[in-house]
Amino acid sequence: MKKKYQWLSILSVGLSAAALAGCTSVSPFAAQKGQVTHQPFGHTQDGTAVELFTLRNNNGAEVGICNYGGLVVFLKVPDRNGQFGDVTLGYDKLEDYLKDSPYFGALIGRYGNRIAKGKFTLNGRQYTLAVNNGPNALHGGLKGFDKVVWQPTIRASLTGPELELNYVSKDGEEGYPGTLRVTTIYSLTEDNALKIQYKATTDQDTVVNLTHHSYFNLAGKGDILSHEVMLPADKFTPVDSTLIPTGELRPVAGTPFDFRTPTAIGARIGQDDEQLKFGGGYDHNWVINKPMGELGLMARVYDPASGRVMEVWSTEPGLQFYSGNFLDGKNIGKGGWAYKFRNGFCMEPQHFPDSPNQPNFPSVVLKPGQVYRNTILYKFSVRK
Ligand code: GLA
Repeated sequence: MKKKYQWLSILSVGLSAAALAGCTSVSPFAAQKGQVTHQPFGHTQDGTAVELFTLRNNNGAEVGICNYGGLVVFLKVPDRNGQFGDVTLGYDKLEDYLKDSPYFGALIGRYGNRIAKGKFTLNGRQYTLAVNNGPNALHGGLKGFDKVVWQPTIRASLTGPELELNYVSKDGEEGYPGTLRVTTIYSLTEDNALKIQYKATTDQDTVVNLTHHSYFNLAGKGDILSHEVMLPADKFTPVDSTLIPTGELRPVAGTPFDFRTPTAIGARIGQDDEQLKFGGGYDHNWVINKPMGELGLMARVYDPASGRVMEVWSTEPGLQFYSGNFLDGKNIGKGGWAYKFRNGFCMEPQHFPDSPNQPNFPSVVLKPGQVYRNTILYKFSVRK
């Protein structure tokens, strides 16, 4: 039996009856705004069937998203010669994601990044999380949002093909308080941006920090050291040897963390710098020069070889730029590519790491009645 996914229309015309079946769920707006197709992508450990949804816009760009972990499985955009290529790292098969994935393409929650010693206090009560990264808690726990099955709905919209994923995280799941209802909307816009919109509500005070963890390689091969990065940030949050922020907001001026003018990732990554040593390269949070909550540019990355440019936009205050320092060739990815040291990089818009324990960082507390929102855009273009 093929699954049915209903089209939800956010337009005023009556499309709700347009429930489409099987692998050929073409948008009622196919002629205008691209399409969504889906196909089986295997079963999770407990036998739940999951699907791979392909969103395609009218310019031929494509993104593949699995409702297990909200994983971005591929993202195909043109290079300067108009050749489409996949710019993300990941696997061909679900079973490889289930076996061992360093968060390839993953939807991260409840708390993206680290919480020191897996402990935080909220309203006078201490909460204990699983410690899964040295002495710290990382990316939502042993079974974070990257390892759960999301309820998918294909939506029609004015801007492009969309996939809505819903998940209810129970009170106490992975040690976090409150039942958290999360909606994630992935869309592919006509100007080749992958847009991610998160929304969450809770029934008890809790902490939330959702982000996205695609590994990018704009050349589609080799290492990312010649990619040029621009980060509009005067400050970053230096860390201790376990990658927990010290609490300081340190000026980037005069350090290898100054990306205010475009600089190749590899230009300074090998410098004799304590912060680079702690991260094994770049694995830090930059404090972006823009008002929190306002959608603004967080990063621009240019690959001189392919001509591809990726801009990252978000409403979040911080950006974790990770230069793939833990990749070591043991993950054999799409098309047999063994992902070696620095073969991919991540740009994760988020609140600062360890915010629940850092009173001077912007708050990550969500209360009943409030709505958590976070928009992230990865926008692709080319330079001739
Ligand atoms: C994040 C962290 C990194 C690393 C990766 C996954 O980006 O900041 O230190 O853990 O996830 O390997």
